[in-house]
Amino acid sequence: MAIIINGKPQAFQPGERLIDVINRCGVEIPQVCYHPQLGPIQTCDTCMVEVDGKLERACATLAADAMKVATSSSRTNAAQREAFDRILGNHLLYCTVCDNSNGNCTVHNTTKLLHVEHQETPYKPKPYEVDMSNPFYRYDPDQCILCGRCVEACQNLQVNETLSINWEDAHPRVLWDGGAPIGESSCVSCGHCVTVCPCNALMEKSMLGQAGLFTSLPKRAIDGMIDVVKGVEPELGFGSILQISEVESAMREPQIKRTKTVCTYCGVGCSFDIWTKERHILKVEPAHGPANGVSTCIKGKFGWDYVNSPDRLTTPLIREGSGFREASWDEALSLVARRFAEIKAATGPDSLAFISSSKCTNEESYLMQKLARAVIGTNNMDNCSRYCQAPATTGLFRTVGYGGDSGSISDIEGAGLVVIIGSNTAESHPVLATRVKRAHKLRGQKLIVSDLRENEMARRADIFLHPRPGTDLFWLSAVTRYILDNGLANQAFIDKWVNNAEAYRESLKPFTLEATSERCGLRIETLTKVARMIAEADSVCILWAMGVTQHVMGSDTSTAISNLLLATGNYMRRGTGAYPLRGHNNVQGASDHGAMPNYFPGYQKVDDPAIRAKFEKAWDVSLPPKPGLDNHLMIDGIHDGRIKAMYVFGEEMSMVDSNANYVAAALKKLDFFVMQEIFFTETCRFADVILPGCPSLEKEGTFTSTERRIQRLYQVFEPLGESRPDWKIIQEIANRLGAEWKYEHPSQIYDEIAPLTPLMAGVTYDRLEGYKSLQWPVAEDGSDQPLLYTEQFKLPGGKATFFPVPWTEPSDQQNNEFDLHLNNGRLLEHFHEGNMTYRTEGIREKTPCTFVEVSPELATERGIETGSWVQLISRYGKLRAQAVITTRVRGKELYMPMNSVDEPVNRLTSSYTDKVTHTPAYKETSVQLKVLGETGDDPLPRTNSRHGHPTPQKGVEVERKWKREDYHEPGNGLVQIKKAR
Ligand code: SF4
Ligand code: SF4
Ligand code: SF4
Ligand code: FES
Repeated sequence: MAIIINGKPQAFQPGERLIDVINRCGVEIPQVCYHPQLGPIQTCDTCMVEVDGKLERACATLAADAMKVATSSSRTNAAQREAFDRILGNHLLYCTVCDNSNGNCTVHNTTKLLHVEHQETPYKPKPYEVDMSNPFYRYDPDQCILCGRCVEACQNLQVNETLSINWEDAHPRVLWDGGAPIGESSCVSCGHCVTVCPCNALMEKSMLGQAGLFTSLPKRAIDGMIDVVKGVEPELGFGSILQISEVESAMREPQIKRTKTVCTYCGVGCSFDIWTKERHILKVEPAHGPANGVSTCIKGKFGWDYVNSPDRLTTPLIREGSGFREASWDEALSLVARRFAEIKAATGPDSLAFISSSKCTNEESYLMQKLARAVIGTNNMDNCSRYCQAPATTGLFRTVGYGGDSGSISDIEGAGLVVIIGSNTAESHPVLATRVKRAHKLRGQKLIVSDLRENEMARRADIFLHPRPGTDLFWLSAVTRYILDNGLANQAFIDKWVNNAEAYRESLKPFTLEATSERCGLRIETLTKVARMIAEADSVCILWAMGVTQHVMGSDTSTAISNLLLATGNYMRRGTGAYPLRGHNNVQGASDHGAMPNYFPGYQKVDDPAIRAKFEKAWDVSLPPKPGLDNHLMIDGIHDGRIKAMYVFGEEMSMVDSNANYVAAALKKLDFFVMQEIFFTETCRFADVILPGCPSLEKEGTFTSTERRIQRLYQVFEPLGESRPDWKIIQEIANRLGAEWKYEHPSQIYDEIAPLTPLMAGVTYDRLEGYKSLQWPVAEDGSDQPLLYTEQFKLPGGKATFFPVPWTEPSDQQNNEFDLHLNNGRLLEHFHEGNMTYRTEGIREKTPCTFVEVSPELATERGIETGSWVQLISRYGKLRAQAVITTRVRGKELYMPMNSVDEPVNRLTSSYTDKVTHTPAYKETSVQLKVLGETGDDPLPRTNSRHGHPTPQKGVEVERKWKREDYHEPGNGLVQIKKAR
């Protein structure tokens, strides 16, 4: 099939937009409002072309066989120019003094493309002030061309539904919450709108006065320059003026550096270019991210101030008395090596323990486990997946074989039904959540959410289940049983692909609807409706996170999820599968690369003699044969005297491990404790030596995201002060202990990993260059697997297996004394305890502290108001926090976000753990609440987005523009108005 563009045939794919075909074949046409990731918006009319003799918008026209298209006839030229001329009526071309004039401004480039010399439509400023009320970006109505890209992005890509345009107004503009200041609206500062704005109307504040050569001049001087330009325009025309601005823009180039990196916060794996000028971050520009496209959340777009924070650690510190003194690298590293050697000699290699960082690179985790195993001789090696995702991995190992997401984020977006269990996805994995919100809003994807809180995804869900705390396993098993009992299962799939069906059916006997209703507090009709929806959906993805895993039965509930997917045949196809959402940016990678007590890289068992022999040969050492201690057992080991020394890097262990008082008491007992960090964290207080590492922007390496996607990050800045990339520090320590490592670049570390690790056999830095990525397993020839199970499962015989799981009562239950259930989790704006995010002023302004969410019922009963100070006391500790009264929680259930180092929620959590993996049961905490009699301001300030009032609509609603009396289609009314959707 082909269309004829300007007389030449061009092939196209069915369903392809005409504009995409035109762009692909290199014919230039204007297209101001079109953005491939947003689809047709149809507000600008600049993409008019003749299609079989009629003027049409190329962005809103689908290519069809034998279609004849003229892109530069006199009619199309006239229509395009007329449309663009109207745009110039809304925008002052002052490019030479514009921070957005960096070669990528659509308005500038279209002026040039159309050879516009003079405009017919006079420029008319709008009667509104510039809005500076958001800490991160500003809106200038006088520069806004009303293209609506921002509205489309906010309504239908981010789906925060804050933006609209008042098309009926005499002076339309972009509105936040229908007319609120940006800083007091529901805007979550995700930055989508700013990223897609084709001009300077929406700009990052970090760009203002920084990007241009003259833009830092005082406003009066800039206004004067603009007046001069406007004065000469009638004589010179835009062409000459644009040339001057392009000279200026070219002179900026050597100063502005654009470097690709990968977000260092959550596990979604957003990647983007960081624009910098010396050490100043001009902006984060997402465009080609394989996971995120143009998307980001507040942290990835605006949360980078920590990198240049004045309180970064920049020199090694050694304990002296009750404080620390600065030391040279040589002194600090010698001390570390000497004490490690002494302790190993005195009490054996297993008296040392190592914790790798799930914030740092794969190469660094590999070196950390190699240091522990090959240099020290212990498998006491772990990472923080123990605190979150280890149970999910177990559930998948048991049933399907690989401990990773079964598909990609695109599979989640394409599923017929998404089930989210125990995950506050919109806040913890924001960009991934946008894909679900978008599919739900635009495509009719169905959504079931099971959670204790009515979080954003729960509010949007078709069915919101609120089971009693810790009872997900019960309802999941009951729903599976109902499906099997009522002939709703995918029997053909089970017969072909799943072992152990009979024993599993038998194991489901206790999970009747009646028993489940009683145990979980869910209605029988709701359970059967959920079962039928899952069974009848054409494809189902189940997403889960710490609301499932951080329980004593976390591994079993994860297993029950996989059993349900197997029973309904929801594996081995696009749009199906199991998605445990990984928390940290590289928690998947840290485990994949061997930072675990029982696995070498690639989940190869340390107690398998053949595997061990392979690593012994490669590393030329003897290796310890037995699995080591995980980080939970390490703390017990310190208390009982088995562990004497510890080396932790990039992990706020004293805050993020549960039962923080118990952990702190253990860290105090260590004979020797090395912390490698970028800030003096709470955990550093316990250290003997502190080594200053580097954040991701100061080093190279790879991260692996939740969808098993391996991506490269490139160095943006030189290490600050004397800080060093973590892989270099680990190598220094190893070499001072007798190793002879000679890595000069992280790519050489990966060259060692790949041949030793079948899962990563074909990973090379060349194959990951720029925005290229690979989703493991990666075969030697470089082919990867976005969909994990295509030919078979990763269990003996290639079949999956049902794995029966019993019911376990949650720990730390309520009684008369501890009568409330306390849940905890992340907040959109902060990452965990906030060590990085609190260093961004705008984030601090919007979310200055933690708080405890209290239901209106409980608030009335106890006389609590928003802002009341309360004390929470558990069986393990106590803390103070201010209350926020909200319907997000119900009855006697409280919720506390974990963004505090002063009053960390983990002072309240217990040392109970998942039976299999020792993941702490953070989500099983009972507390009593004392009202302290003081009331302060709302801990969520007025500027927090949670106080906003979104204005959902179906998009930019261009039809309302077309209805205006002063609107006519360019090209003498010959346009056939077409609907985008
Ligand atoms: S939420 Fe705010 S930053 Fe994000 S797209 Fe909407 S208006 Fe823009
Ligand atoms: S602010 Fe929105 S409507 Fe205005 S130019 Fe930018 S993207 Fe277009
Ligand atoms: S925190 Fe997560 S969702 Fe936000 S930009 Fe980073 S990777 Fe993306
Ligand atoms: S690109 Fe704006 S209407 Fe087509």
